[in-house]
Amino acid sequence: MSTTAPRTEFSASAKVFRSLVESRRAVRRFTAEAVPKAVIQECLELAMLAPSSCNLQPWSFHVVRNPDLLQQLQPVCLGQSAAKAPLIIAVFAHSNTWEQACADVLRLWPEPAVPKAIEHFYKNSAPFQYNQGWLGWRGLLKRQMVRLMGFRRPVMRTPNSLEQMRLWAVKSTALAAQNLMLAFQSHGYSTCPMEGFDEKRLKQVLPVPKGAIPVMLLAVGMPGERAVYNPRLRFPLNQRVAWH
Ligand SMILES: Cc1cc2nc3c(=O)[nH]c(=O)nc-3n(C[C@H](O)[C@H](O)[C@H](O)COP(=O)(O)O)c2cc1C
Repeated sequence: MSTTAPRTEFSASAKVFRSLVESRRAVRRFTAEAVPKAVIQECLELAMLAPSSCNLQPWSFHVVRNPDLLQQLQPVCLGQSAAKAPLIIAVFAHSNTWEQACADVLRLWPEPAVPKAIEHFYKNSAPFQYNQGWLGWRGLLKRQMVRLMGFRRPVMRTPNSLEQMRLWAVKSTALAAQNLMLAFQSHGYSTCPMEGFDEKRLKQVLPVPKGAIPVMLLAVGMPGERAVYNPRLRFPLNQRVAWH
């Protein structure tokens, strides 16, 4: 049996998307040209459209344009050249905002009445899933419960600890960060995602919300000279894909 789908004639939007994704590279040298606020706003709106677990949107973005703050972020980013960008967006994941988010979903529901099933989900199911209790004691109990229940039927086994909640938040936030990068790319601006930074020192420069997990700092701007360091390298598709 063939392991690949036959290549068909792709739609115009599929071609546009391919060229957008292909054109994005990690850019490490930027010009000083500022990114217009309207573009930043639009890209953030597109980041917000990313899917998230139970639609709880466990992310936040700190937009840094102030030259003094940008200067201070350079050593925080270990002096790497991408950090000399005219715009840096710090992307945070939040494992502790789910309760407020459940309330907000019900408060902001975009129909005159919140459907009963939705109300039940955000008032009961989601809190059961995400409340790990003080120091994670509930999570510990849930892990034992789930292990027993799992003998009889399929069960959702995570997140059932504070650490798993962090992973839970980071997963959705990374999707928002990717939306953000592609959005800037579509406006002709380049980006470099950075995890090479000092988390502790970041808190001395930005008012990082309590419990926030800095997922990445996104450098944004117009590409400068020799902006991309290396040719693109990706592993062969068949090395990373299993078809069943
Ligand atoms: C989570 C994450 C962290 C990264 N951190 C850095 C970084 O600190 N500095 C940097 O120059 N590039 C960083 N990169 C960029 C990668 O090195 C780059 O995406 C990879 O080499 C592939 O190149 P491409 O994006 O141009 O295809 C990071 C990328 C990701 C996804």
